[in-house]
Amino acid sequence: MVKRSLEQFASKDHEFIGYSNSSATDEGFSTEMTGVLRAYRGGGVATLLKLYGIQHAQMHGNGRLFTVNDAVNTAVLALNQKLVHLGVSKTVNQ
Ligand SMILES: CC(C)(COP(=O)(O)OP(=O)(O)OC[C@H]1O[C@@H](n2cnc3c(N)ncnc32)[C@H](O)[C@@H]1OP(=O)(O)O)[C@@H](O)C(=O)NCCC(=O)NCCS
Repeated sequence: MVKRSLEQFASKDHEFIGYSNSSATDEGFSTEMTGVLRAYRGGGVATLLKLYGIQHAQMHGNGRLFTVNDAVNTAVLALNQKLVHLGVSKTVNQ
């Protein structure tokens, strides 16, 4: 695995609206935190941040990607499930 980390920021009109970070670990490339300001949720911002992170990881040779989420966080669990349906992730363990 090529070790690289990534911090991504989303902006609108030069104002911060969202964030996501990923890090290389011994177990694979981990997406650690994704957050979007409440006013901008539901518009696909987190999906784009996560897709970019996955693309970045794959471009740098990381074959295994994973994330860990709170079991009651239905929003992010649904987002991860959507990535499975889009074909960019394979499994979601809940
Ligand atoms: C989770 C979070 C990052 C989603 O950001 P977002 O930009 O609103 O997400 P998107 O618009 O890209 O949504 C993508 C998918 O996630 C799911 N989703 C998002 N918000 C949801 C909600 N409130 N309830 C259920 N599903 C939700 C949906 O499947 C959605 O796909 P759809 O629009 O086709 O239905 C955002 O709610 C957030 O910042 N929450 C607080 C921080 C947090 O809990 N982060 C995750 C743990 S690190």
